[in-house]
Formats: sequence, C-alpha cells, structure tokens
Amino acid sequence: MSKLGRVVASLPIPPVLRDRVDAQFDCFAPDRHLRTDDVLALADQHQPDGLLVSLGMPIRAEHIARLPGSVKVIATTSVGYDHIDVAAANARGISVCNTPDVLTDATADTHMLLLLGAARRAKEHVRNMDGGWNIRNGFFQGLGVDVAGKTIGIVGMGRIGRAVADRARGFRMPILYHNRTRLSPDLEGDARYFATLEDMLPHCQVLSLNLPGGQGVLMTAERFALLPQGAIFVNSARGSLVDEDALLEALKSGQVGAAGLDVFQKEPAYDTRLNDLENTFLLPHIGSATVETRTAMLELAIEGIAEVLAGRAPSNVVRL
Ligand code: GLV
Repeated sequence: MSKLGRVVASLPIPPVLRDRVDAQFDCFAPDRHLRTDDVLALADQHQPDGLLVSLGMPIRAEHIARLPGSVKVIATTSVGYDHIDVAAANARGISVCNTPDVLTDATADTHMLLLLGAARRAKEHVRNMDGGWNIRNGFFQGLGVDVAGKTIGIVGMGRIGRAVADRARGFRMPILYHNRTRLSPDLEGDARYFATLEDMLPHCQVLSLNLPGGQGVLMTAERFALLPQGAIFVNSARGSLVDEDALLEALKSGQVGAAGLDVFQKEPAYDTRLNDLENTFLLPHIGSATVETRTAMLELAIEGIAEVLAGRAPSNVVRL
C-alpha cells in the first residue's frame, strides 16, 4: 500500500500503534512531548501533510501562519480544541480533527471520582495513610457529606454531561441541566432543563461543569454566590471557565463546601493555593487517562489524518 503522506507528531507514538502509523504515513514522531516552536521547526524541515498534536500544544493564528503550505490537516489527541485556532486553520484550507465519543466514559468516570473525592475529603484521608495513619479519627471526625440523593446541576449536556447524568442517576441524584439548547425528550429523560444558569444555580447541591472551553469565564464570584451554601463544585471540563480567585474565596468562606478539579486556568503551573485548602480534591488533568481510552483517542486522531489525506471528510473533523 502506498503511503498517504508525511506526518509530524508532537508526541511519541506508543509501540502498540507504531506499525499501523508507519504503514500509513512517513511519520516523524519524537520520544517526548514537543512544544509548538519545536513542531513548527520540524514542519519546516519535513514539509508534512499532517500534524498530530496534543492538548498541551497551543496552535494560534500566528502559528498557523508559519506552517508550510504542505499541511492539510491537524489532528489533536483531545476532544477539546480550544488550543487550536480552527477558524485560522480552515481559512488556510487546513482541516482540524479531534477525538469525540471515545473518551466520554473515562472522562465521566473521572468526574465522579472528583465528586466523591471532594465530598468524602479523600485528600485528607489519603494524606493520613501516606503518613502511616498517624491521625486516628474519632467517630465524628473526618466526616464528608453524602453524594447519594443530592441534586446535581450539569452545565453542558453534551456527550460527557449526559454520561455524568447517567452515573448520577445511579446515585439517585435528581438531575438539572443548563445547555445552549434543550435536549430532545429521549436524551433529556428525567433531567430538568433551565434556560439560564442563574435560575439553575440556587438549586444545585452539586454543580458540574461539562462544557467545552474557549467561551470565557462562566463561574464568577456572583455565580458562586447563587449556589446554596456548601455546594460541591466539580470541574473536569476546562479551567478557563472558572474565576479561580472567586473559587478560592468561595471555598474559604464555605459558600462552596468542597471542589473536585481536574482542570485549571494554568496547567501544569496551577494555582497551588487551591491545594492548600483542605476542602479540595485535585487531579492533574487525567480525565481521559486510561490505557483503552488514550489508545482509542490516538487511533481516532490518526484516522482523521488518514481520511483527510485520502480526500474524504472524517467523522471527527471539527465543524465551526
Ligand atoms: C481533555 O481535556 C480533552 O479535551 O480531551
């Protein structure tokens, strides 16, 4: 089979996928994650047809402008594409592909881990075990709060939001949601729709962010103040959706009782004041980080490149 073209990757290709990639492309893949400037230099050198990149690699308009004319497709190994200026890419005739669907379950599972970790004060208890179980909690010490039966408000009822709702149903949690558009009755099920976030927030004992980034700050001091006192806040979507200073204040005052966060305004140089608080449970952006899911994501990204280079429209092409 003749190869479909040349690809420059910003991340290593794992052995399990290497033969498949090599069969389809002449692929220049590094042994570590590269930064944008390094990838641009490689692109200049190899004049590739496609770029395979990851979330940690911003590709803004000025980077797109520096790409060689040979590039026809950029595939990111993430569902989110807020790190890529898709409009600027499309304007140069470059398609952008992402990895929807395949990471939905893993991300929703991480979301529940964050919720449970925050509600049950997992950080304190893990720290106690790390220290050799030196703190012996009395019967009424180290207590969290129940998750079962709490009302959850989901912001963003796309694939991941709906997978979170499915899991929340298992915890007998009444489900509220806010979304740009109301879901069809079969997708909505027993969930209650709120056309405005402001109307939903006062009812959310748990507030869950499951919407794409790239749309500015959603959770401001004013909006945290609308939650019931002691609400649990969970974010596995994007840190850019949250005013972290406002969240810190709300966590300190108890307005937000606990927060489970997988994403931050700055990654990896996140605001460690969030970790200094006892009522947070933090993870380093591992939403999709399982062997099965990351393999499927990389496969889908590669498939997107192959489809574009074969002159077809891939199912995972980003449409603005
Ligand atoms: C993870 O945050 C992703 O967008 O895939």
